[in-house]
Amino acid sequence: MKIIVFLVLCVEVLCVAGKYNEEYQGYKVYNVKLKTQQHQDQFHLLKSDAVDFWRKPSLKHGTVGQAMVPPSHVEWFEEKLEELGLAKEIAVKDVFEYLQDSNMKRIARNDVNAEFDFKEYYRYNEILDHLYRLQESYINSTTTYFEIVEFGRTAENRPLVYLKLTNTNIQTDIQKPIIVMEAGIIPREWITIPSALYVVDRILNENKFLDDFEWVIIPVLNPDGYEYTHTNLRLWTKSRSTNSNLGAICPGVNINRNFDLQWSTFDSSSSPCSHIFAGVSPFSEIESQLIRSIIKDFGARLRMYISLQNTGGFISYPWHYERAASGMFRQHLLLGLDMVAAMKEDYALDISADASGDRASGTSTDYARNETVLYTFNLDIAPRGSDGVLVPEEEIVDIAEDVWRAVSAAAKGIL
Ligand SMILES: *[C@@H]1O[C@H](CO)[C@@H](O)[C@H](O)[C@H]1NC(C)=O
Ligand SMILES: *[C@@H]1O[C@H](CO)[C@@H](O)[C@H](O)[C@H]1NC(C)=O
Repeated sequence: MKIIVFLVLCVEVLCVAGKYNEEYQGYKVYNVKLKTQQHQDQFHLLKSDAVDFWRKPSLKHGTVGQAMVPPSHVEWFEEKLEELGLAKEIAVKDVFEYLQDSNMKRIARNDVNAEFDFKEYYRYNEILDHLYRLQESYINSTTTYFEIVEFGRTAENRPLVYLKLTNTNIQTDIQKPIIVMEAGIIPREWITIPSALYVVDRILNENKFLDDFEWVIIPVLNPDGYEYTHTNLRLWTKSRSTNSNLGAICPGVNINRNFDLQWSTFDSSSSPCSHIFAGVSPFSEIESQLIRSIIKDFGARLRMYISLQNTGGFISYPWHYERAASGMFRQHLLLGLDMVAAMKEDYALDISADASGDRASGTSTDYARNETVLYTFNLDIAPRGSDGVLVPEEEIVDIAEDVWRAVSAAAKGIL
């Protein structure tokens, strides 16, 4: 059930010499609200390589979808809505103008030497600087072990790193269970990154869970994509590698489609120009290779894997590639209930395919579960602001605190 490959939509080409986000001129965002099971069953008719769902509609959870449609597909999309009997509801008339309004503050920021806090979004080099200072400050600690490990370099030559946090018995306590958390797999989902860094901050400052676990945290899984959302296209979803035959004009792979479980089957594209391009093969990208290497190296010690995303407002567990639970349904449900109960905001809890309203293959959490990591969750942060993607900076702390509540409830639950 591959998505129909539409004629190459070389969005990138148009933007080579463009201003920040200029490419989104004429792009529209539609609300997609499903009212019947038949709508849900026919939802795939609204999908194409060119339509970028910021959020998928889910009848079960009453989630209104948001579809960003390029000018070339506006007519097609509106016809489909009509065919399916769905209301035509435009949420954003012109995405470029919309982004102009919402991003002025970010562009104006120039206090690069300010202290690192959770009140704004930082560039990748600022995040790394912060982490290296942190590492330095724990270098002689008698209680806390904090290390930055560089796995390799991205396509654009940025260091791809993960953090190791535990107590100073790291050498002797080699059987400690491990919790892995990744953020920024979809780079436009900025809020996931300060959320992960906030979890790091809480673990260190509250001296929490360091005796019980080793934490492996990937604060920015897709640094090239993340930087690109700052410099070129705010809503970019992929990496910036050029491995495909069209790599020069359409770079990038959707990292959360590049893992091997049912690779390139659902909600994936084989077109390098699509935002859901799954890559030329499973694990073709260094970002997914990093996860694979962590999973293979730590093996049986891995106890839990959490992927942070946003726009959903749910906690979910495998599978995502099919509408069924993995063998660990009961365990995920019970721990998930603890997580949801610990949070201030309302979160749904379900298997990933139902929670997100769509099947997707090649995801990191399905891969981790398939490699027998016991507990595997997506924590898909609830929408804030007018659309859920552009989370205002004022909301960061509030959201990050909620993420910490969920993560610490989960850690407590598996002690
Ligand atoms: C750590 O200890 C070394 C050796 O005693 C010392 O030279 C260094 O300044 C200390 N670093 C920090 C950050 O305290
Ligand atoms: C992982 O996937 C393979 C191939 O689909 C399958 O044979 C295997 O049973 C899966 N393992 C788990 C734990 O689900």
